[in-house]
Amino acid sequence: MSDKSILLIIGGGIAAYKSLELTRELGRSGVRTRCILTNGGKEFVTPLTVSALTGEKVFSELFDLDDEADMGHIQLSRSTDLVVVCPATADLMAKATAGLANDLASTTLLATDKPVLMVPAMNVRMWEHPATQRNIRQLRLDGVEVMEPDVGDMACGEFGPGRLPEVSRIKDEILDHLARPEDGPLSGKTAIVTAGPTREALDPVRYISNHSSGKQGYAIATALARLGADVTLVSGPTAIPQPSGMNFVQIETAVEMLDAVKKGLPSDIFVSVAAVADWRPAEPSDIKIKAKTTKDGLGALSLVENPDILKTISHLKGKRPKLVVGFAAETNDVENHAQGKLERKGCDWIVANDVSGDVMGGSENEIALVKRDGIERLPRMDKAAVAQNLAKRIAESFES
Ligand code: C5P
Repeated sequence: MSDKSILLIIGGGIAAYKSLELTRELGRSGVRTRCILTNGGKEFVTPLTVSALTGEKVFSELFDLDDEADMGHIQLSRSTDLVVVCPATADLMAKATAGLANDLASTTLLATDKPVLMVPAMNVRMWEHPATQRNIRQLRLDGVEVMEPDVGDMACGEFGPGRLPEVSRIKDEILDHLARPEDGPLSGKTAIVTAGPTREALDPVRYISNHSSGKQGYAIATALARLGADVTLVSGPTAIPQPSGMNFVQIETAVEMLDAVKKGLPSDIFVSVAAVADWRPAEPSDIKIKAKTTKDGLGALSLVENPDILKTISHLKGKRPKLVVGFAAETNDVENHAQGKLERKGCDWIVANDVSGDVMGGSENEIALVKRDGIERLPRMDKAAVAQNLAKRIAESFES
């Protein structure tokens, strides 16, 4: 990690003192850490301590002539591999969500072209407040990675989620971001991931689709790329920004998705996360269908079956990827259905998830990994963590 550096923004929360330990730990791993200390942060740790521990100048003021002469804020925000906000206070996250730029920390977050990792820490009520949760959802949609806080006793005497995660967990997360893909366990391997919904046109303005957000598929593509795989993400329409570091193919319909997957072959890995529409209108109209009813009521919608992409790729002769993973989104009897699906689709693994709650569009997921020789159940976790777990198991399957 000796050629890697992070820009650490230390916000004004009691957990700020733990970011000092973080800089020490990162230093031991060879990561260079430059810090921005917010005015609130200065109430908890001093610039002198931060500077002594990092061996670097500490930046604080947006309009400081010395700071700007040393390194302008735009350059500061970009001459790093990763921007980490730790602790990320409710205030800093709200500013970043709104795109405010009224101090050095918020301006840096708006100006950077580097990935951003936020590590929240705050009182449980502040964490659970709809405004904070709304901001976190938006930040994640904007491509910011927001870690889940720990649950436990707080400095303020209350108990619940909002504690800064263990420093070792934050360090691992940062090192994971900084890991060079070319050294990863999947380097030299290719992967195709499908994500999001498909849209099947009824007429030029209407379509059949579903609630898939694409979050899980994008997270899996990112996790595989971080382990070094050369990833092609084939995505239906989503609100997620196009991820960097991979090939990206935008499609609308199931037929287009199958076509794009086939064009991406040969591939070592295929992960079919997309919620593909099973049916499409038989004859989409070229002109907008009039909203009129007949004496028999509404006109009937006639549908034809879409290709089953997972099944098609699983049964390819010659070009079948070595590992084919499907998803089973069920609302009941999840694992039994998944076992059946494994056989019907002809894939190697099925990731079974219960979508009866808020999984579709939500940020968490609880999965069971169903293979021919057994089932592994994972606890409920963030979709990014689900993706990392799955990518790790995919990498292990190529080792054996
Ligand atoms: O049969 P079901 O739709 O429940 O199967 C889900 C799995 O099959 C997912 O992996 C999904 O991406 C894939 N699938 C597909 N093409 C379809 C329907 C589902 O690839 N037309």
